[in-house]
Amino acid sequence: MPSISRERLHSLMQSEQQKFISERPKSKALFERARKTLLGGVPMNWMAKWAGAFPPFVREAQGAEFFDVDGHRYVDLCLGDTGAMTGHSPAATVAAVRQQVARGITLMLPSEDSFWVGEELERRFGLPFWQFALTATDANRFSIRLARQITGRPKILVFNWCYHGTVDETLITLENGRSKARRGNIGPPVDPSVTTKVVEFNDIAALEQALQPGDVACVLAEPALTNVGIVLPDPGFHQSLRELTHKCGTLLIIDETHTICAGPGGYTRAENLAPDFLVLGKPIGGGVPGATYGFTQRVADGIAARQNLEDCDVGGVGGTLAGNALSLAAMRATLEKVLTQTAFDHMIPLAERWTKGVATAIAKFGVPWNVTRLGCRAEYLFSSRTPRNGGEAHDAMDFELERFMHLFAMNRGILLTPFHNMALMSPATTEEHIDQHTKVFREALQALVN
Ligand SMILES: Cc1ncc(COP(=O)(O)O)c(C=O)c1O
Repeated sequence: MPSISRERLHSLMQSEQQKFISERPKSKALFERARKTLLGGVPMNWMAKWAGAFPPFVREAQGAEFFDVDGHRYVDLCLGDTGAMTGHSPAATVAAVRQQVARGITLMLPSEDSFWVGEELERRFGLPFWQFALTATDANRFSIRLARQITGRPKILVFNWCYHGTVDETLITLENGRSKARRGNIGPPVDPSVTTKVVEFNDIAALEQALQPGDVACVLAEPALTNVGIVLPDPGFHQSLRELTHKCGTLLIIDETHTICAGPGGYTRAENLAPDFLVLGKPIGGGVPGATYGFTQRVADGIAARQNLEDCDVGGVGGTLAGNALSLAAMRATLEKVLTQTAFDHMIPLAERWTKGVATAIAKFGVPWNVTRLGCRAEYLFSSRTPRNGGEAHDAMDFELERFMHLFAMNRGILLTPFHNMALMSPATTEEHIDQHTKVFREALQALVN
């Protein structure tokens, strides 16, 4: 297998950076101006992570493409890292938002769209009761709180190198078998080991041992890890996870925010999972902020038995703008007309095509990488072995190489996520978009192993 020389990588990176800067004078000027008022020149700290010397400023996005202010066209495989999995500004969502925005945006009162969305979510995911939030982070936080309240237990359990948003309890990793605050965890309120147990994905024995003492309120899990590359569950993993959580009196929260890529009912419906809670955020409103969490009759009864009307607005589950009329109108249109079975029938074969293109190039150039797909999401990883857990996937990461791949792609009109090497398909993505990526990916490998 050809090894990739670091020296070569540095010099390629430098020339890609020069190309990026020289071809984007308008973005550069805007960035310099933005730095005067925005910390690091960006409206959100992680936007500093883009591989270019500055982020390209967007002029306009539509479907699976966008243009930057310098006039470059990009095929968007990042898709707002799933927030725009519907394609940018899908027509049906835009029409519903246009109509609702003129009729009241947020009222602290329900609109008819709310129960339409609840009914559709029940149809898709099989859970009878639903609540709304503005972000998947909040939907996870609220589910955790409710699980703690119902079970009267203090701890939660997550899988190593998971990501569930900015939920304090989840920013924890395993290092040499011991749990500690995740690298980069900013100002944790307490050592997360106090609140959280963490085990490797697919490690049933460790899971059983962690649940056995009976102090874990809930397991919060993506059905497949998607935030450290893609790590698929072993056959039988979900059955064991469900059996053990039942046996130990622990509630199971399945976070479908990314794994909705598996189909209209997410991984839960595709694989017949039976969680106690289900969380979905990001694309549910076609890019308009909105998220939801659903739960079983048993959980609903548990909540009702402990409900305190007088204090229900200040108990830690809330959000003034949550469940607002605008985000519910956007969710209704998105679920009814955009993220449909027909859309998935279009998107999943595109992800298969993307994966095949990447796998063929990996084989041709003999680099020790692999590619994994889940529904309409796919990702390559810098290891010849398919990882079985977050630890293995994280060990395969190579920040420098990742940045080169991202910058090389961006310079040739392809946008991947700024975090790892993920590509997502939207209803507006086409075979031509995929083939453009395959061509650029091959060119990058050619340059690296030359
Ligand atoms: C699986 C999963 N859950 C929750 C979140 C949090 O989403 P948000 O940042 O929109 O709150 C993310 C974000 O990447 C995620 O990947």
